[in-house]
Amino acid sequence: MNLLVKNIGTIVGIDESGHTCVAGKEMNSIATLEEAWLLTEGTRIKDYGPMSQLPTSVECETIDAQGGWLFPSFCDSHTHIVYAGSREQEFLDKIKGLSYEEIAAHGGGILNSADRLHNTSEEELYKQAMERIDEIIAMGTGLVEIKSGYGLTLESELKILRVIRRIKETAPLEVRSTFLGAHAVGRAFKGRQSEYVEHVCNEMIPAVAAENLADFVDIFCDRGFFTPEETAKIIERGATYGLRAKIHANELAVSGGVEVGVKHRALSVDHLESMGDEQIEALKDSNTIPTMLPGCAFFLGIGYPPARKMIDAGLPVALASDYNPGTAPSGNMRFVTSLASIKMKMTPAEALNAATLNSACAMGESKDYGSITRGKIANFYITKPIPSLAFMPYAHQTPIIKNIILKGKVQ
Ligand code: NIG
Ligand code: FE
Repeated sequence: MNLLVKNIGTIVGIDESGHTCVAGKEMNSIATLEEAWLLTEGTRIKDYGPMSQLPTSVECETIDAQGGWLFPSFCDSHTHIVYAGSREQEFLDKIKGLSYEEIAAHGGGILNSADRLHNTSEEELYKQAMERIDEIIAMGTGLVEIKSGYGLTLESELKILRVIRRIKETAPLEVRSTFLGAHAVGRAFKGRQSEYVEHVCNEMIPAVAAENLADFVDIFCDRGFFTPEETAKIIERGATYGLRAKIHANELAVSGGVEVGVKHRALSVDHLESMGDEQIEALKDSNTIPTMLPGCAFFLGIGYPPARKMIDAGLPVALASDYNPGTAPSGNMRFVTSLASIKMKMTPAEALNAATLNSACAMGESKDYGSITRGKIANFYITKPIPSLAFMPYAHQTPIIKNIILKGKVQ
């Protein structure tokens, strides 16, 4: 079925350049068209133009946007949506003053989620994850990456990845899947980290690849978790199975994660709360997208990544939610863009580019997603009339989304 949206106040995020991402100064420009229409054909965007040239002879379903704005759906390139239950007990511990690392060192954190996940059926995990998927769809997300990493045994990692596959098959949004066996050392390998890394490389990755369950591989390369050497080993093993790397780097410390990611041509290095000038330098002339997850810094009360320095250095930065039970229990990408503006001084245009085209690029998907472009997948949402682009991050809790279209279908 084709769809015509008419009387659009402004289409935002038009891209006719074919660029796979926007970098540096370009991040501050976002093309728009006022008083416009947009037409889809099947799952893709067919055309758009000014209302003065509204097509008259097309047979299709019509939406009257009544002056509302049309935005490309958010692309969320980093989430851990498949988890069991929640961890608000740790939230209380944090209020009392314990740090994220202290909680992890006492056996909480990721291991706590892994324990729960072991005792949760695949069916129940799917049910819980789909509630979160419905939640993020309603907030404007149309393409999402989901990681494993709360299994930490072969069986449980496969369980999560199968749930992700089922989400891929059943949810209306587009999903990419990442194997994150090296999220923490599984309890059975306590005190034997290098053996666990061997297990990840020699048992887990081949098993994941045999069922074609992952698009990417990830490693938590940080102080107290995995070293750059271990990270390199896992990236290399993943590469032999065609899995590109997306690395958790520099959340807790300058960990070497950025450098190892760049060296091994990772698709993205994510977090970056701890960044020096050398790490920014290392990212220049690389194809690795620095991805920031300000919902994590907000929740943990830690410093934010130096977004301005990275953009001013000419880099293309992406934004993602990190939706997970321990450091960012929210997948609200619009709030992520607000945090980017409020806490990291990104302009609304920079934040929107980072949360759409550049985040799609951090999943290798910007040819099909992340902007309003003829031929791209028809993933967009329509708002109530709003006064300007800046209203989006400014009025961050005002519900404004009226219609959601994913792959050309009204949701
Ligand atoms: O991206 N930092 C590592 N992993 C997650 C948090 C995992 C957890 O605490 O459950 C993150 O922040
Ligand atoms: Fe994460």
